[in-house]
Amino acid sequence: MALPPAQPLILFLPDLEATRRVAAALCQALEPRAVVYLKGPLGAGKTTLVRAVLEAAGFPGKVKSPTFTLVETYWTERFAVAHFDLYRLAEPEELEWIGFRDYLQADTVCFIEWPERGQAHLPAADLELSLRLEEKGRILELRASTPTGQRIFDKITQLLAIHSEDVSHERD
Ligand SMILES: Nc1ncnc2c1ncn2[C@@H]1O[C@H](COP(=O)(O)OP(=O)(O)OP(=O)(O)O)[C@@H](O)[C@H]1O
Ligand SMILES: [Mg+2]
Repeated sequence: MALPPAQPLILFLPDLEATRRVAAALCQALEPRAVVYLKGPLGAGKTTLVRAVLEAAGFPGKVKSPTFTLVETYWTERFAVAHFDLYRLAEPEELEWIGFRDYLQADTVCFIEWPERGQAHLPAADLELSLRLEEKGRILELRASTPTGQRIFDKITQLLAIHSEDVSHERD
């Protein structure tokens, strides 16, 4: 059954193993050119999730946090990944100076940490992932914002064998 677009999927990730499982499903579901926003406070696990997606995609090397470089790019068999961390962006216009648009290629998936800092200079998200701390683990909230995002979202729920009736309803 198709889900209404605004309905988020809320998952509890008790440990890194749980993060890896969801990252593997996300990796399989991702489509080139997808734009994924990663929200949540410092240390919420945004970089950890991207690292796990790249691991699942078979990327053999080290995945650094792009905190100082703003962006790191990777090539895997299925797609390239541009991983942004905009935390240190002084002003949204800086995105133009680093040639942000050049990263939005047909074969590239964009992960953007701290998208709030890029504001209108960023492409709209297909999928928004929000992470927050919960006891020793994390809560991950996934939300689709476009038909592409919805396809990815639906595939993730399939891969994780989550039935639509289990998907949490939006909270007040
Ligand atoms: N599901 C999980 N359960 C427990 N610990 C986790 C989980 N996911 C991530 N972590 C831990 O949380 C920390 C998160 O660090 P990470 O660099 O990924 O955060 P971040 O959200 O990218 O922060 P920043 O905004 O500073 O870039 C890491 O030490 C990681 O091991
Ligand atoms: Mg990070």
